[in-house]
Amino acid sequence: MLKSRFTLLAFIILIAGLVLAACNNSEDESDGEGNDEEEEVNIYTSRHYDLDDEIYAEFTEETGIEVNIINGSADELIERMEREGEASEADLFFTADAGRLHRAKEQELLQAIESDTVMENVPEKLRDVDSQWVGLTKRARIIAYHPDRVDEEELSTYEALADPEWEDRVLIRSSENVYNQSLLASFIEIYGEDISRMWAEGIVQNLARTPQGGDRDQASAVVAGEGDVAILNTYYLGGMLNSADEEEVNVAEQLEIFFPNQETTGTHINVSGIGLARHSNNVDNAVELIEYLSGEGVQDQFASANYEYPVNENVEPADVLQEWGDFEEQDINLSILGENNADAVRMFNEVGWQ
Ligand SMILES: [Fe+2]
Repeated sequence: MLKSRFTLLAFIILIAGLVLAACNNSEDESDGEGNDEEEEVNIYTSRHYDLDDEIYAEFTEETGIEVNIINGSADELIERMEREGEASEADLFFTADAGRLHRAKEQELLQAIESDTVMENVPEKLRDVDSQWVGLTKRARIIAYHPDRVDEEELSTYEALADPEWEDRVLIRSSENVYNQSLLASFIEIYGEDISRMWAEGIVQNLARTPQGGDRDQASAVVAGEGDVAILNTYYLGGMLNSADEEEVNVAEQLEIFFPNQETTGTHINVSGIGLARHSNNVDNAVELIEYLSGEGVQDQFASANYEYPVNENVEPADVLQEWGDFEEQDINLSILGENNADAVRMFNEVGWQ
Protein backbone atom coordinates (compact mmCIF):
# COMPACT_ATOMS: atom_id res chain seq x y z
CA MET A 1 0.00 0.00 0.00
CA LEU A 2 2.75 2.40 1.01
CA LYS A 3 4.67 1.41 -2.07
CA SER A 4 1.75 2.04 -4.41
CA ARG A 5 1.06 5.43 -2.75
CA PHE A 6 4.71 6.34 -3.30
CA THR A 7 4.48 5.26 -6.94
CA LEU A 8 1.39 7.42 -7.45
CA LEU A 9 3.15 10.46 -5.96
CA ALA A 10 6.19 9.90 -8.17
CA PHE A 11 3.89 9.58 -11.16
CA ILE A 12 2.14 12.86 -10.35
CA ILE A 13 5.46 14.67 -9.93
CA LEU A 14 6.64 13.25 -13.24
CA ILE A 15 3.49 14.39 -15.08
CA ALA A 16 3.68 17.85 -13.50
CA GLY A 17 7.28 18.12 -14.62
CA LEU A 18 6.39 17.12 -18.18
CA VAL A 19 3.53 19.62 -18.38
CA LEU A 20 5.79 22.39 -17.11
CA ALA A 21 8.49 21.47 -19.63
CA ALA A 22 5.93 21.43 -22.43
CA CYS A 23 4.69 24.90 -21.42
CA ASN A 24 8.22 26.29 -21.48
CA ASN A 25 8.86 24.75 -24.82
CA SER A 26 5.76 26.12 -26.46
CA GLU A 27 6.62 29.56 -25.09
CA ASP A 28 9.97 29.40 -26.81
CA GLU A 29 8.40 28.33 -30.05
CA SER A 30 5.65 30.88 -30.02
CA ASP A 31 7.74 34.00 -29.64
CA GLY A 32 10.74 32.65 -31.51
CA GLU A 33 12.94 34.90 -29.39
CA GLY A 34 13.84 32.37 -26.67
CA ASN A 35 17.35 32.89 -25.36
CA ASP A 36 18.49 29.39 -26.13
CA GLU A 37 17.16 29.48 -29.69
CA GLU A 38 19.39 30.49 -32.54
CA GLU A 39 18.46 33.79 -34.15
CA GLU A 40 18.04 33.39 -37.87
CA VAL A 41 16.38 34.72 -40.98
CA ASN A 42 15.53 32.74 -44.11
CA ILE A 43 15.81 34.57 -47.41
CA TYR A 44 14.31 33.20 -50.62
CA THR A 45 16.33 34.95 -53.30
CA SER A 46 16.78 34.88 -57.05
CA ARG A 47 19.99 36.91 -56.74
CA HIS A 48 23.29 35.06 -56.81
CA TYR A 49 26.21 37.37 -56.27
CA ASP A 50 29.22 36.56 -54.11
CA LEU A 51 29.02 40.01 -52.61
CA ASP A 52 25.46 39.35 -51.38
CA ASP A 53 26.83 36.43 -49.38
CA GLU A 54 29.61 38.59 -47.95
CA ILE A 55 27.12 41.25 -46.91
CA TYR A 56 24.91 38.65 -45.22
CA ALA A 57 28.00 37.36 -43.38
CA GLU A 58 28.78 40.89 -42.16
CA PHE A 59 25.17 41.23 -41.01
CA THR A 60 25.52 37.99 -39.02
CA GLU A 61 28.73 39.24 -37.47
CA GLU A 62 27.11 42.52 -36.40
CA THR A 63 23.80 41.13 -35.17
CA GLY A 64 24.32 37.45 -34.39
CA ILE A 65 21.43 36.65 -36.74
CA GLU A 66 22.21 33.77 -39.11
CA VAL A 67 21.10 34.30 -42.72
CA ASN A 68 19.97 31.14 -44.50
CA ILE A 69 19.87 31.52 -48.27
CA ILE A 70 17.43 29.59 -50.45
CA ASN A 71 18.12 30.22 -54.15
CA GLY A 72 15.77 29.80 -57.07
CA SER A 73 14.20 31.71 -59.93
CA ALA A 74 11.57 34.24 -58.90
CA ASP A 75 8.77 32.12 -60.32
CA GLU A 76 10.04 28.98 -58.58
CA LEU A 77 10.27 30.79 -55.26
CA ILE A 78 6.79 32.29 -55.57
CA GLU A 79 5.43 28.84 -56.40
CA ARG A 80 7.31 27.33 -53.47
CA MET A 81 5.93 29.88 -51.01
CA GLU A 82 2.43 29.21 -52.29
CA ARG A 83 2.87 25.47 -51.95
CA GLU A 84 4.33 25.77 -48.45
CA GLY A 85 1.56 28.07 -47.26
CA GLU A 86 1.55 28.75 -43.53
CA ALA A 87 4.32 26.20 -43.01
CA SER A 88 6.70 28.20 -45.20
CA GLU A 89 10.13 28.88 -43.74
CA ALA A 90 10.45 31.99 -45.90
CA ASP A 91 11.00 35.25 -44.01
CA LEU A 92 12.04 37.34 -47.00
CA PHE A 93 11.51 37.15 -50.76
CA PHE A 94 14.17 38.94 -52.77
CA THR A 95 13.99 39.27 -56.55
CA ALA A 96 14.37 41.52 -59.56
CA ASP A 97 11.44 43.48 -61.00
CA ALA A 98 8.65 45.31 -59.22
CA GLY A 99 6.13 43.43 -61.36
CA ARG A 100 7.16 40.11 -59.82
CA LEU A 101 7.17 41.52 -56.29
CA HIS A 102 3.67 42.79 -56.94
CA ARG A 103 2.67 39.30 -58.11
CA ALA A 104 3.85 37.87 -54.77
CA LYS A 105 1.76 40.50 -53.01
CA GLU A 106 -1.32 39.73 -55.14
CA GLN A 107 -0.95 36.05 -54.26
CA GLU A 108 -1.05 37.04 -50.59
CA LEU A 109 2.48 35.86 -49.91
CA LEU A 110 3.66 39.11 -48.28
CA GLN A 111 2.87 41.36 -45.32
CA ALA A 112 3.58 45.00 -44.47
CA ILE A 113 7.12 45.96 -43.41
CA GLU A 114 6.80 48.12 -40.31
CA SER A 115 9.96 50.15 -39.99
CA ASP A 116 10.51 53.91 -40.01
CA THR A 117 14.16 53.27 -40.89
CA VAL A 118 13.25 51.38 -44.06
CA MET A 119 10.72 54.07 -45.05
CA GLU A 120 13.43 56.72 -44.62
CA ASN A 121 16.01 54.71 -46.55
CA VAL A 122 13.81 53.87 -49.54
CA PRO A 123 11.99 56.64 -51.47
CA GLU A 124 8.23 56.26 -51.54
CA LYS A 125 7.94 55.62 -55.27
CA LEU A 126 10.29 52.65 -54.97
CA ARG A 127 8.08 50.91 -52.41
CA ASP A 128 4.83 49.00 -52.55
CA VAL A 129 1.90 51.27 -51.63
CA ASP A 130 1.21 49.00 -48.64
CA SER A 131 4.91 48.61 -47.81
CA GLN A 132 4.81 44.85 -48.43
CA TRP A 133 7.97 45.14 -50.52
CA VAL A 134 10.62 47.79 -51.05
CA GLY A 135 13.23 48.35 -53.74
CA LEU A 136 16.84 47.80 -52.69
CA THR A 137 18.70 48.44 -55.93
CA LYS A 138 17.65 50.42 -58.95
CA ARG A 139 18.20 49.91 -62.69
CA ALA A 140 17.32 51.95 -65.76
CA ARG A 141 16.06 50.58 -69.09
CA ILE A 142 18.07 52.58 -71.61
CA ILE A 143 18.98 52.77 -75.29
CA ALA A 144 22.41 51.39 -76.27
CA TYR A 145 23.57 52.41 -79.74
CA HIS A 146 26.49 52.05 -82.10
CA PRO A 147 28.07 55.49 -82.58
CA ASP A 148 29.20 54.66 -86.14
CA ARG A 149 25.62 54.18 -87.24
CA VAL A 150 23.66 56.42 -84.93
CA ASP A 151 24.26 60.03 -84.01
CA GLU A 152 23.25 60.87 -80.46
CA GLU A 153 21.22 63.75 -81.92
CA GLU A 154 18.91 61.23 -83.56
CA LEU A 155 17.89 59.82 -80.21
CA SER A 156 15.26 61.30 -77.93
CA THR A 157 12.52 59.05 -76.54
CA TYR A 158 11.34 55.44 -76.44
CA GLU A 159 8.37 56.59 -78.53
CA ALA A 160 10.61 57.98 -81.29
CA LEU A 161 12.02 54.48 -81.87
CA ALA A 162 8.54 53.56 -83.16
CA ASP A 163 8.90 56.10 -86.04
CA PRO A 164 9.40 54.79 -89.62
CA GLU A 165 13.02 56.02 -89.77
CA TRP A 166 13.96 53.21 -87.36
CA GLU A 167 12.57 50.41 -89.54
CA ASP A 168 14.71 47.23 -89.26
CA ARG A 169 17.04 48.92 -86.77
CA VAL A 170 15.62 48.21 -83.30
CA LEU A 171 16.69 45.29 -81.08
CA ILE A 172 14.79 44.29 -77.96
CA ARG A 173 14.04 40.97 -76.31
CA SER A 174 10.80 39.02 -76.22
CA SER A 175 7.62 40.40 -74.68
CA GLU A 176 7.55 37.33 -72.44
CA ASN A 177 10.26 39.04 -70.46
CA VAL A 178 9.05 40.85 -67.38
CA TYR A 179 11.33 43.87 -67.97
CA ASN A 180 9.51 44.65 -71.21
CA GLN A 181 6.17 44.01 -69.56
CA SER A 182 7.10 46.52 -66.87
CA LEU A 183 8.26 49.03 -69.50
CA LEU A 184 4.94 48.86 -71.32
CA ALA A 185 3.08 48.87 -67.99
CA SER A 186 4.76 52.19 -67.20
CA PHE A 187 3.66 53.63 -70.57
CA ILE A 188 0.07 52.52 -69.95
CA GLU A 189 0.18 54.55 -66.74
CA ILE A 190 1.83 57.61 -68.25
CA TYR A 191 0.27 57.78 -71.76
CA GLY A 192 -2.84 55.60 -71.54
CA GLU A 193 -3.74 52.50 -73.56
CA ASP A 194 -4.01 53.95 -77.09
CA ILE A 195 -0.60 55.58 -77.28
CA SER A 196 1.00 52.60 -75.55
CA ARG A 197 -0.47 50.21 -78.10
CA MET A 198 0.72 52.43 -80.95
CA TRP A 199 4.20 52.39 -79.45
CA ALA A 200 4.25 48.60 -79.20
CA GLU A 201 2.95 48.30 -82.77
CA GLY A 202 5.58 50.71 -84.03
CA ILE A 203 8.41 48.83 -82.32
CA VAL A 204 7.19 45.53 -83.82
CA GLN A 205 7.30 47.23 -87.24
CA ASN A 206 10.85 48.42 -86.64
CA LEU A 207 12.37 45.26 -85.18
CA ALA A 208 15.67 44.26 -86.77
CA ARG A 209 14.84 40.59 -86.11
CA THR A 210 12.37 38.37 -84.31
CA PRO A 211 13.01 38.93 -80.57
CA GLN A 212 15.47 36.41 -79.21
CA GLY A 213 17.95 36.14 -76.34
CA GLY A 214 18.44 38.35 -73.31
CA ASP A 215 19.53 41.97 -72.94
CA ARG A 216 23.21 41.08 -73.44
CA ASP A 217 22.34 39.41 -76.76
CA GLN A 218 20.72 42.62 -77.99
CA ALA A 219 23.96 44.48 -77.26
CA SER A 220 25.97 41.86 -79.18
CA ALA A 221 23.54 42.07 -82.10
CA VAL A 222 24.06 45.84 -82.36
CA VAL A 223 27.83 45.34 -82.53
CA ALA A 224 27.35 42.53 -85.08
CA GLY A 225 25.40 44.97 -87.24
CA GLU A 226 22.01 43.26 -87.00
CA GLY A 227 20.48 46.46 -85.72
CA ASP A 228 21.57 49.94 -84.66
CA VAL A 229 19.94 50.44 -81.26
CA ALA A 230 18.98 48.13 -78.41
CA ILE A 231 16.73 48.69 -75.43
CA LEU A 232 18.28 47.08 -72.35
CA ASN A 233 18.96 47.43 -68.64
CA THR A 234 21.96 49.45 -67.51
CA TYR A 235 23.52 46.75 -65.35
CA TYR A 236 24.00 44.39 -68.27
CA LEU A 237 26.36 46.90 -69.86
CA GLY A 238 28.09 47.46 -66.52
CA GLY A 239 28.50 43.71 -66.15
CA MET A 240 29.81 43.32 -69.71
CA LEU A 241 32.34 46.13 -69.30
CA ASN A 242 33.70 44.36 -66.21
CA SER A 243 33.32 40.84 -67.54
CA ALA A 244 36.02 38.13 -67.45
CA ASP A 245 34.86 37.29 -70.98
CA GLU A 246 36.88 39.42 -73.42
CA GLU A 247 34.21 39.28 -76.08
CA GLU A 248 31.66 40.84 -73.71
CA VAL A 249 34.08 43.64 -72.84
CA ASN A 250 34.72 44.17 -76.53
CA VAL A 251 30.99 44.46 -77.29
CA ALA A 252 30.22 46.82 -74.41
CA GLU A 253 33.17 49.11 -75.22
CA GLN A 254 31.82 49.73 -78.71
CA LEU A 255 28.43 50.90 -77.52
CA GLU A 256 27.23 54.24 -76.22
CA ILE A 257 24.42 54.63 -73.75
CA PHE A 258 21.51 57.04 -73.99
CA PHE A 259 18.95 57.83 -71.30
CA PRO A 260 15.65 58.31 -73.16
CA ASN A 261 12.85 60.77 -72.40
CA GLN A 262 15.04 63.20 -70.49
CA GLU A 263 13.09 66.22 -71.79
CA THR A 264 9.73 64.53 -71.27
CA THR A 265 8.59 61.73 -68.97
CA GLY A 266 11.94 60.36 -67.76
CA THR A 267 13.78 57.09 -68.25
CA HIS A 268 12.05 53.90 -67.17
CA ILE A 269 13.41 52.49 -63.93
CA ASN A 270 12.78 49.28 -62.07
CA VAL A 271 14.12 47.71 -58.91
CA SER A 272 15.48 44.59 -57.44
CA GLY A 273 13.51 44.45 -54.22
CA ILE A 274 12.61 42.55 -51.11
CA GLY A 275 9.27 41.53 -49.60
CA LEU A 276 8.43 40.40 -46.08
CA ALA A 277 6.91 36.91 -46.23
CA ARG A 278 3.37 36.65 -44.90
CA HIS A 279 4.08 33.56 -42.80
CA SER A 280 7.48 34.65 -41.49
CA ASN A 281 8.43 33.28 -38.08
CA ASN A 282 11.29 35.77 -37.74
CA VAL A 283 9.66 39.11 -38.55
CA ASP A 284 11.96 41.18 -36.32
CA ASN A 285 15.10 39.64 -37.78
CA ALA A 286 13.76 39.98 -41.31
CA VAL A 287 12.98 43.68 -40.82
CA GLU A 288 16.41 44.20 -39.29
CA LEU A 289 18.00 42.72 -42.42
CA ILE A 290 15.95 45.02 -44.69
CA GLU A 291 17.05 47.98 -42.57
CA TYR A 292 20.65 46.84 -42.94
CA LEU A 293 20.45 46.32 -46.71
CA SER A 294 18.78 49.68 -47.31
CA GLY A 295 21.13 51.55 -44.96
CA GLU A 296 23.93 53.85 -46.05
CA GLY A 297 26.62 51.47 -44.88
CA VAL A 298 25.90 48.71 -47.40
CA GLN A 299 23.82 50.35 -50.14
CA ASP A 300 26.77 51.26 -52.29
CA GLN A 301 28.50 47.86 -52.22
CA PHE A 302 25.20 46.07 -52.37
CA ALA A 303 23.98 47.91 -55.46
CA SER A 304 27.31 47.77 -57.22
CA ALA A 305 27.48 43.96 -56.91
CA ASN A 306 25.31 44.06 -60.05
CA TYR A 307 26.25 47.54 -61.35
CA GLU A 308 22.96 48.94 -60.12
CA TYR A 309 22.04 52.26 -58.53
CA PRO A 310 21.52 52.55 -54.77
CA VAL A 311 17.94 53.32 -53.72
CA ASN A 312 19.15 55.23 -50.66
CA GLU A 313 19.48 58.83 -51.84
CA ASN A 314 22.32 59.56 -49.40
CA VAL A 315 24.55 57.13 -51.27
CA GLU A 316 26.43 57.84 -54.52
CA PRO A 317 26.40 55.23 -57.30
CA ALA A 318 29.59 53.34 -58.19
CA ASP A 319 32.15 55.01 -60.50
CA VAL A 320 31.12 53.24 -63.71
CA LEU A 321 27.54 54.48 -63.24
CA GLN A 322 28.63 57.99 -62.34
CA GLU A 323 30.48 58.15 -65.66
CA TRP A 324 27.15 57.62 -67.42
CA GLY A 325 25.82 60.67 -65.61
CA ASP A 326 22.65 61.59 -63.74
CA PHE A 327 19.29 61.17 -65.36
CA GLU A 328 15.62 61.98 -64.89
CA GLU A 329 13.44 59.02 -63.96
CA GLN A 330 9.84 58.24 -64.71
CA ASP A 331 7.79 59.68 -61.90
CA ILE A 332 5.45 56.82 -61.05
CA ASN A 333 5.11 54.50 -58.09
CA LEU A 334 6.58 51.15 -59.08
CA SER A 335 3.53 49.27 -57.78
CA ILE A 336 1.96 50.43 -61.06
CA LEU A 337 4.28 48.09 -62.97
CA GLY A 338 2.58 45.15 -61.29
CA GLU A 339 -0.91 46.59 -61.45
CA ASN A 340 -0.68 47.14 -65.22
CA ASN A 341 1.17 43.90 -65.96
CA ALA A 342 -1.82 41.94 -67.26
CA ASP A 343 -2.82 44.82 -69.57
CA ALA A 344 0.72 45.02 -70.89
CA VAL A 345 0.86 41.28 -71.62
CA ARG A 346 -2.49 41.45 -73.42
CA MET A 347 -1.35 44.44 -75.48
CA PHE A 348 1.89 42.71 -76.53
CA ASN A 349 -0.16 39.76 -77.73
CA GLU A 350 -2.55 42.02 -79.62
CA VAL A 351 0.25 43.70 -81.56
CA GLY A 352 2.10 40.44 -82.22
CA TRP A 353 5.27 41.22 -80.25
CA GLN A 354 6.73 37.73 -79.82
FE1 LIG B 1 18.24 40.94 -65.34
